[in-house]
Amino acid sequence: MEQALERALKRSEAEGNWRQRYHFTPPVSWMNDPNGLIYYKGLYHLFYQYNPKGCKWGSMHWGHAVSEDMIHWKDMPVALRPDQEYDCHPEGGCFSGSAVEKDGVLFLFYTATTQIDGVVRQTQCIATSKDGVNFEKYEGNPVIKEQPQGLSNDFRDPKVFEHNGRWYMVVGGCIGSATSDGDGRICLYESDDLYNWKYKGNVLESNGKLGTMMECPDMFELNGKWVVTCSPMNHPDYNKSLYCVGTMDFENCIYTIEKVGNMDVGFDYYAPQSFTDKDGNRILVAWQNGWLWMPWCTDWGPTSQENWRGCLSVPRKVQLDSENNLCMYPVKEVESLVSQTVTYTDVEIGEKAIKLYDDPNRSNRILFKLDITKIESRNLEICVLGKESGYTAIQIDFLSKIITLDKSHGDHYEGGRMNCPFELHDGCLELCILVDHSSVELYVNHGERCITTNVYPEENQTECWIRTPYKKAVVDYVQIDFLDSSWEMQ
Ligand code: FRU
Repeated sequence: MEQALERALKRSEAEGNWRQRYHFTPPVSWMNDPNGLIYYKGLYHLFYQYNPKGCKWGSMHWGHAVSEDMIHWKDMPVALRPDQEYDCHPEGGCFSGSAVEKDGVLFLFYTATTQIDGVVRQTQCIATSKDGVNFEKYEGNPVIKEQPQGLSNDFRDPKVFEHNGRWYMVVGGCIGSATSDGDGRICLYESDDLYNWKYKGNVLESNGKLGTMMECPDMFELNGKWVVTCSPMNHPDYNKSLYCVGTMDFENCIYTIEKVGNMDVGFDYYAPQSFTDKDGNRILVAWQNGWLWMPWCTDWGPTSQENWRGCLSVPRKVQLDSENNLCMYPVKEVESLVSQTVTYTDVEIGEKAIKLYDDPNRSNRILFKLDITKIESRNLEICVLGKESGYTAIQIDFLSKIITLDKSHGDHYEGGRMNCPFELHDGCLELCILVDHSSVELYVNHGERCITTNVYPEENQTECWIRTPYKKAVVDYVQIDFLDSSWEMQ
C-alpha cells in the first residue's frame, strides 16, 4: 500500500491547469489503453497501460485503480510490471488485455511483448489474483505462444469472455505489415479452462477495407446481436474505433456483418474496452487520445508539463437503437458528481452572445433541448471553455443537419474541426456536453452520435455562451450541472 500512497501524494502535487477533474488520469506519467475492466468482489477494477518512468510511451506496466461506482477512483499499486524474459523490453512490456473471474479468482490476460534478436515477439499470458491487489504471473506463460499461421508478429490485446459455458478470446492480428500495407484480422480462440486455447478462425478480416491491423478487439452480445469492436490502424476513412453489428456462429467461427459504424467521430477515442456493470449493463471505456499515425494527431498535448499524460473517457452505457446503430451515453453514476443545477426554458438568443455560465472549476455538463419550430436561424453556436477569442465551438447547421465540433480557437495547441450528420426526432435535437479541464465530449440525441476531443485551454477559459450568426432562435430547455471532482485523495 505504501507505493499507492506515494503515488496518490504525487497526484495531488501534480494538479494543474489541464489535470482532468472527473475523467480518469494516471497519478503521474504516461497512460494509454484501459485494460482488464471488471466488477470483481464488490468493486470496479480498472487497469491501464502505464509507463511509470515518464510522460512518454514505453516499458508497459498495468496501472490499477478501484471504484465503487466507476466514477470515484482510488489508486492501487501497479498490478503488472515487465519482469519476465517473455515480457521484458524497454519497447515492450505488459501490453493491453482483459479480465474475467472464475471461481472467485481474478484472471488477467495480457500480451507479453519482447524482442528476440531485434524481432518483436507478442504472446498471450495470464496473471491471477485472489484479492484483487496482488497478482501472480502464471508459471506456464505464455498460454498462446504463437500467432496463427500466416499472420505477422503483430498479435495482441486478448479480450476474454464467456458464452454458453465456454471461454472465448479475441486477439488482434494482421497479415503483412501493420504499419504499411497489411490486412487486419480478429482471431478467435476457445477454451474450457482458461489455460488451454484452441484457434477457431477469424471473426473479422479487413480485406483491404477496415485497416492494416485490428488493435484492441472486443466482442459482446446485445439484444440478440453480436457486436464486434476494434481500433484499426490505417483505416482508409481515418476512423479510429469501429463497431460491427451482426450474428455469430461460434461453432464454425462465422461472423455475418449487418452493419459497420464509427463509435465516436471525434479526435480522441481509441482502444475502447467493454465490461458489464453490477446490474448487467454493457459499459465502454476508451483511451481519450490517439496515435501519431492518425492523420490529425500531432502529439499528446502539453500536459507532460504537469507530469501526467493521457486520460480515459467517462464510462458509457452501450445500447443498440431500433435500427441496430450503436449508441453510447454517460453512465447514470455521473449524477453523483452533480453539485448544483441551473435550468432555463425558452431562452431567446440572437447575434449577441448570451453567457450561460462562468465556471471557474471548468467541470460541468450541459443538456440542451432544441425544437426546430422555434429556430429561425440556420445555425446555432455553443461555445465552451471560452474567454473572448479563445473557445471550443459546437456549431449546429439545421439546414444541412451537420453538427461540427471546432477547436481551432480552443487552445494554442492542435486545432481542427470534426463534422457529423444528425437527425431530428419529432422536430427536436437533444445535446449533452461534458466539459472538463482538458476535454469536451458531445453526445447527440442521447448518444446516437458521439464526438470526443481533448483541448488545452488557458486557465481563464471558463465561460460558456450561445449565439446565432443572424436571425433569432429560442432554445427550449437548457440544464447546466456543475460537477465535483471524482478524486478521493487517499
Ligand atoms: C493500442 C495499443 C495496443 C497495445 C498497447 C501498447 O493503443 O497499441 O495494441 O497493446 O497500445 O501500449
